[in-house]
Amino acid sequence: MEKNQVNLAEEKSQKLVDELNVLLGDVQVFYMNVKGYHWNIEGKPFFVLHDKFEELYNDLAEKGDEIAERIKTLEGRPVHSYSEFLNVADIKEETDVSSDEDTVKGVVNGLQKLVDRERNIINMASENGDETTADILTGFMGEQEKMIWMYNAFIK
Ligand SMILES: [Fe+2]
Repeated sequence: MEKNQVNLAEEKSQKLVDELNVLLGDVQVFYMNVKGYHWNIEGKPFFVLHDKFEELYNDLAEKGDEIAERIKTLEGRPVHSYSEFLNVADIKEETDVSSDEDTVKGVVNGLQKLVDRERNIINMASENGDETTADILTGFMGEQEKMIWMYNAFIK
């Protein structure tokens, strides 16, 4: 069986890379959606949400970087153009969302999609003995599940 540079089964790692690229596309499309929320939010909670959305898109940028660098470590090619992101992503582009309720719902939906995908990839990674990928994504999930709770509490 062919092994890659970190001694993981080549073929299974490439399948994992494909899934990580979908996650990367989702993170990048979601990043731009959240930037739109940050720019377009209107209403009483403007100052709170404007700041919170900035925190979130910065966090997504860091996570995207970590996913891409894990793909490189697995000897894959991370997608890195807008057209590729849109092509691979499951999360859809959103434009001109401006109410507190709609922006927060958009955030919760996006986070839920990321968590679902991460949960699937963690299973795949563990089956390949790739506990490092599983660990990175488990860390992401813990943070994002907590954010889902907080943003849901905000709109209740
Ligand atoms: Fe800003």
